Amino acid sequence: MGSLAGKNVLLGVTGGIAAYKAPDLVRRLREQGAEVRVVLTPAAARFVTPLTFQAVSGHPVRDSLWDEAAEAAMGHIELARWADLALVAPATADFLARLAAGLADDLLATLCLATAAPLWVAPAMNRQMWAHPATVENLARLESRGVRVLGPAEGAQACGETGAGRMLEPAELTAALAAEDGDGSLQGRRVLVTAGPTREALDPVRYLSNRSSGKMGYAVAAAARAAGAEVVLVSGPVELPAPAGVRVIGVETAAQMQAAVQAELPGTDVFVGAAAVADYRPAEPAGQKIKKREEALQVALVRNPDILAGVAAATPRPFVVGFAAETHDLEANARQKLEAKRLDLVAANAVGPDRGFDRDDNALRAFWPGGERDLGSGAKRVLAKQLVELIAERMRAGHQAEDS
Ligand code: CTP
Repeated sequence: MGSLAGKNVLLGVTGGIAAYKAPDLVRRLREQGAEVRVVLTPAAARFVTPLTFQAVSGHPVRDSLWDEAAEAAMGHIELARWADLALVAPATADFLARLAAGLADDLLATLCLATAAPLWVAPAMNRQMWAHPATVENLARLESRGVRVLGPAEGAQACGETGAGRMLEPAELTAALAAEDGDGSLQGRRVLVTAGPTREALDPVRYLSNRSSGKMGYAVAAAARAAGAEVVLVSGPVELPAPAGVRVIGVETAAQMQAAVQAELPGTDVFVGAAAVADYRPAEPAGQKIKKREEALQVALVRNPDILAGVAAATPRPFVVGFAAETHDLEANARQKLEAKRLDLVAANAVGPDRGFDRDDNALRAFWPGGERDLGSGAKRVLAKQLVELIAERMRAGHQAEDS
């Protein structure tokens, strides 16, 4: 069995010439252990017959919202709930435009709106269509909502032209899904994550905050969800879409973040503090906008509660993971935090003018009492997956120690 074992994959096929490769894609997804249900757009059914997909998937294929017998067997909302992940391959320019606009004018578009599962698209079209500003804009909109785009590749096209717009090969698509998908190591666990900055009001229009983008915390939440966990994300103000299948609670101040964390703590197995919580807040925020009368202005600040240390001090307590952003003496400072806040694991990253904050990549080293692991550098998404795997591994090690 491959790494998609037991996963329910909803495969949407739209009407491009690359649809002829989709039956092979179904076969490869099934080889990886996935259960596949295929939905065709009416245009796709002109390229490959539903019967072909029924034969390779082992299930009836749907191509209409108005199929009464099929709706009675598994309604479209049930199908949307059934999916662990959804992939549209090939995805035509037209389908991407409808998806970007949020239309629900056929079964596949409706399912893409109705599912909470992560959505992937594998575009395939003529190179001019791919480069058209309308398509570029639609793709950017979809990506900003968390839709993942696979390809396209460059090469010879069915229309006789050469350029970007070829659908990735079925083997490449399958490998990409398998690589991203978690291993179920947090199945049945509840994970609570904090992310982003906090804002501490100086007056009704000004605040103290920091440069945190929330990307690391959001990536951890998505990776924990992919590993099978129920995930709640308490987030400061960021410009990121909610990861698929994750419940997001938006907060602004450290006090609100702490209250949300305390409320969600019961039943939590893992807590990951990835938020850049402001350590201090103005002692007395002004009720009205501060006017510029004085030459110099003094603002008294008071300490904010340490949310992470608070969770670690609770009984019973979850497995507690903190982040340490350090400009110097990374290991010594990270270990000091591990001990002082009584953490089970700390993930340390170097920060500076061009490292760490507000970027897509990062470098992480993890420390725990008696051990460490260099998680390397790379995309935050990849590092988050490794961190989640390490968390699952350390939890198992902890249980074994308790049992022996
Ligand atoms: N943290 C928290 N609540 C705070 C401050 C920090 O939950 N009020 C958490 C962060 O989410 C992170 C960890 O504590 O997981 C480390 O935060 P960091 O700011 O790097 O360390 P501090 O403990 O604040 O120490 P210092 O600023 O002196 O480095």
